[in-house]
Amino acid sequence: MHEVTVSAPVNIACIKYWGKRNTKLILPTNSSLSVTLDQDHLRSTTTSRADQSFEEGDRLWLNGKEETVKEDGRLGVCIKELRNWRKIEEDKDSSLPKLSQWPLRVASYNNFPTAAGLASSASGLAALVASLAKLYSLPQSASQLSLIARQGSGSACRSLFGGFVAWREGSAEDGSDSLAEEVAPQSHWPEMHALICVVSDAKKGTSSTSGMQRTVETSTLLQHRLKIVPGRMDDISKAIQSKDFATFGEITMKDSNSFHSVCLDTSPPIFYLNDVSKSIIAVIEELNRSSGEIVAAYTFDAGPNAVIYALEKNMPKVLGVVNKFFPTSEESRDPFKTEAAELPEGFNVN
Ligand code: DP6
Repeated sequence: MHEVTVSAPVNIACIKYWGKRNTKLILPTNSSLSVTLDQDHLRSTTTSRADQSFEEGDRLWLNGKEETVKEDGRLGVCIKELRNWRKIEEDKDSSLPKLSQWPLRVASYNNFPTAAGLASSASGLAALVASLAKLYSLPQSASQLSLIARQGSGSACRSLFGGFVAWREGSAEDGSDSLAEEVAPQSHWPEMHALICVVSDAKKGTSSTSGMQRTVETSTLLQHRLKIVPGRMDDISKAIQSKDFATFGEITMKDSNSFHSVCLDTSPPIFYLNDVSKSIIAVIEELNRSSGEIVAAYTFDAGPNAVIYALEKNMPKVLGVVNKFFPTSEESRDPFKTEAAELPEGFNVN
């Protein structure tokens, strides 16, 4: 039996991925850029096991609940591609155990609410790809692995790196240049902090996958957004290189608002922000205005939860206003309390 356990962190995009030009290969309509959060907080942990004696067929559990692995589904495609890479290694070196032929058992846990707009698919799929790459001792680089993670969930390709990460849209029809790469490591700008405001941990109404497809099909505003994003990618990358928080923050907020505008321009419209989200926007805008500079930047994914970026020195100020206007009740659920538990029953069962 061969087994590994790997964790992958959540990433939160500052320049949003929203739209596919190829839904099968998951090729995006625009490049995107994200910040990978610290492993210690939001993460997915995945244990993968390959055993000759397992009954035929791969099995996967997400937070203890078994999910079907369809051969041509996203998970199935990722597993198949990684197996193929393992097979290449086995063909090169006949002393390697034939793991590529053995059934897999995979168990993955998130230590935060799944599918509540907290990028659970990103860390989940990245952890799956990273764990199988480790199980199979694959020689491929993180960027090469990102080509596979991308086919599991677009945003997952960025979670294979820490720090500041770009997903280049690429132009090749087969997707071979649509990959993630590091813009700067976390150590380049360790003062950058993120505050996650869990407005709601309910599962979102419109999934990113179906929402973005509807936007591609119905939004005219998306065409305008696609012209603007390349410039933003360049400008935010420069802001990160030069540690220019004001520019980083301005672009981050603008791009979040641009993304939610195209959601509203979709038919029927998609509303991810709720009244609390909108109040958070108002409070941060006011904080920046009264500070005379941009000290905090909000961004929202496909859900009402806010992520607020700020430099460490300004975080007390941000926490001050957030706690003042949005006091957390005693009973409010701690999203970090669900730790990776034991492997599910059946993990071992043939
Ligand atoms: C709003 O990566 O979840 O978080 O590729 O269909 O799985 P699929 O979509 P997904 O979309 C993420 C959208 C976003 C923006 C982002 O992370 O860039």
